[in-house]
This record gives sequence, C-alpha cells and structure tokens, in this order.
Amino acid sequence: MSRSRIVVGISGGIAAYKSCILIRLLRKAGADVVAVPTPAALEMIGKTTLEALTGNRVHVRTSEAADQVTHVRHAQEADAIVVAPATANTLAKTRWGIADNLLLNTLLAARCPVVMAPAMHTEMWTNPATVENVAVLRSRGIDVLDVGVGQLTGKDAGPGRMLEPEAIAEHVLATVARTRDLQGRHVVVSAGGTREPLDPVRFLGNRSSGRFGVELAREARSRGAEVTLVAANVEASVLERAGGTRLVRVESARDMLEAMEREASGADIVVMCAAVADYRPVERLDVKRKKTGEDLAVRLVENPDILAALARDRRKEGRLVVGFAAETGDETASALEYGIAKARRKGADLLVVNEVGERLGFGDVDTAVAIVADDGTVVREAEGSKSRMARVIFDAIRERM
Ligand SMILES: Cc1cc2nc3c(=O)[nH]c(=O)nc-3n(C[C@H](O)[C@H](O)[C@H](O)COP(=O)(O)O)c2cc1C
Repeated sequence: MSRSRIVVGISGGIAAYKSCILIRLLRKAGADVVAVPTPAALEMIGKTTLEALTGNRVHVRTSEAADQVTHVRHAQEADAIVVAPATANTLAKTRWGIADNLLLNTLLAARCPVVMAPAMHTEMWTNPATVENVAVLRSRGIDVLDVGVGQLTGKDAGPGRMLEPEAIAEHVLATVARTRDLQGRHVVVSAGGTREPLDPVRFLGNRSSGRFGVELAREARSRGAEVTLVAANVEASVLERAGGTRLVRVESARDMLEAMEREASGADIVVMCAAVADYRPVERLDVKRKKTGEDLAVRLVENPDILAALARDRRKEGRLVVGFAAETGDETASALEYGIAKARRKGADLLVVNEVGERLGFGDVDTAVAIVADDGTVVREAEGSKSRMARVIFDAIRERM
C-alpha cells in the first residue's frame, strides 16, 4: 500500500508549537507530511523548523511556486488534511469559503477528509459566531474536534485548549485508515421514502428526505467502496451530495424490492436505509379519483418485507446486511426496546435504530442512533449530524465484517 500523504495546516494560535510534535508523530507512523502554515502561524513558529521536520518545502502564499499550482495540488494529493491549531479566524473563513492564504485555498479545494483541532480562549470558543461556525462545518462533514479544558495562553484556564498532539495524531491516522477500508468492496445503499400510488396523481408517502442514505453512500465512497444508491423520491438538491455513486431511481416499495434484489446480488454490503411503506392501496385507479361528497375508505395490502428478503440469503451469498428502523416509543416500550425486538426478528446483521417524530430524525437535522446486532446486543449508541452517524455506522460494519 502506498504511503499516505497528510497535509498539516497550522494557523496562528500559540498552540502552533505543538504542531511540530504532531508532524513528528505522523512521520513516525510512516506518513508523508506537508506543512501549510498561515502567515500568522509563521509568527509563532519558523518555516525552517517545518521544512526540517517534514522534509518537504513549505509554502504560505498562493503565489509561491505558482508553476506547481500548490493551492489545488496539496488538496488533490492529500489523503487527509488536519488543521492544528485551528484558530477562530480560520474556522470562520473555512465556514464561509474564504481563500486568502494557501491553507484556506487548500481547504476549499479539498475532497479528502478534513480534521480541525480548534484552540482559542474560552471567550472566543463560546462566542455564538464560533459556535455557529463549528456547527456548520460539522454539518458539512468536516471533523471539528472538541477542545480540552485547562491552562490557556496567559494566566487563565477553561475550555479552549487544543487536544494533545498524540490524540490528534491517533485520530488523523484512524481517519486515513478509513479512506481505504472499503476498497474493492461493493456497497448498495437505499435512500428516501417510497410512494404507493392511489391514482395517477396521488400517493401514500412518508417524510423521509433521503439525506441519511445519501450520507451513508458518501461515507462508503470516501472509504474506497464502489457504491450504488437506490433512491426513492429523493430531491435533486439532496442527491447532489452523492456525486460519484451509481444511481438507480425507484418509486414504490415493489420497485424498491426488485431493484434491491437485483443490486444486492454481487454486493458485499447492503444498507437498507430507505423508508419503505408497509402497506399499499389494493387498488390503483387509472384515472384521477373524483370527489363524491361521501366518506372514502381505502383498502391497503401489506408490502413485501425487503429487509427480511435481503437478510434471508445473506450468509450463503456472502454479504452483510444492515437495516434501519425508525421507531417511536410509547407507554409499552421505548423506541430502543422496539428496535431490539425488531433486530432479533429481522435477521439482518445489524439494525440501526433511530427515534423519529414530527421534528425528530427527518431532514437536515441531527439524529441519535443505536446500532443493534441480530442477537439484540447494542453495539454502539451515538448522536450527531447524519454525516457523523454515517461514519459511526460504517465503523460498526467494518468491525462486523
Ligand atoms: C500570541 C498570540 C496567540 C494567539 N493565540 C490564538 C489562539 O490560540 N486561537 C485563536 O483563535 N487566535 C489566536 N490568536 C489570534 C490570531 O493569531 C489571529 O486571529 C490571526 O488573525 C489568525 O490568523 P490565521 O487564522 O490566518 O492563522 C493569537 C494571537 C497572538 C498574537
């Protein structure tokens, strides 16, 4: 396997001196490291030190080494970028897509995983501007680490310290390992919500936006897998984020079953994230139903259980099957208890249980998941953005493989 290339971005915090230790640790682990300091960082530590530690030339401005187009080349060649320390200023500029130094250009051009380790005074860290910038960056999939609590520059102490270089190095190396851990694997993900037609213009549907499935497809691709996304009624603006995956569009539960059975043969991992209608109208009119002035009863018939169908032959066909269960709790049991019972019943290798409600779980919001094995054991519980949860889910899948 080729050596990984890691860009260490350094912005102008006093913790910049610790980035020297981070560089040493990453090199010791076998990585090829390129340092990209901001002009403010070079007032804290010297270019000579960084060139000696990395063994690579250090550039700061976009205009330097213009023949090598460093502002995009660094990003294109990197397996991961880590910014440590990340100042309030660099976090803010990254959030807004500003590119007035080489590090910011590199971040804007990056398609690889980006980890940012913030460091600043407590007042700056807790300022609503920074809080919002961090939330937006995380929602876009940038891995903004938490801060430590302790001694800051000067006499004060509190939250805002950069994590120690050892912890950052470990995190970045694990991130790089993830970019390859599904190489050569074929992953099929279903996303969105099915629509069960009543007549040519009306349907029974659900609130699923397809965002979670799209984040799962992105995560699988970022880990080197070949990905097929089977999307049921997902808006184009959501599908945009799944760029690079093979797309199969379906409408109803029966279309979904046909597509999933076809795509799953030959797949290594199948993640059934779509919200599939349990029932469909018995009758689908060929013409628009007219108003009669009377009450109307619609008879429904049960749809096929796609997850159970995919799980049935999974061992024989050598694939790992992951299901999703959107649950609501009631007075009898919690959402998780219903999820555990379902995991035992369905026979998928893993079941991701997420609690949903009118304002919970659907669309562009954080979510909480519990990942349950087929024997009912809860293997992971986590909460956060859908892109973060997608990472947690594939970590659990890797462990199970
Ligand atoms: C001694 C010193 C220490 C600083 N430490 C920090 C820090 O830890 N975090 C931070 O956000 N800004 C810190 N600053 C302020 C930044 O250097 C300043 O906002 C600068 O514009 C950041 O530019 P950059 O993000 O392009 O590196 C410090 C400034 C000085 C002079």
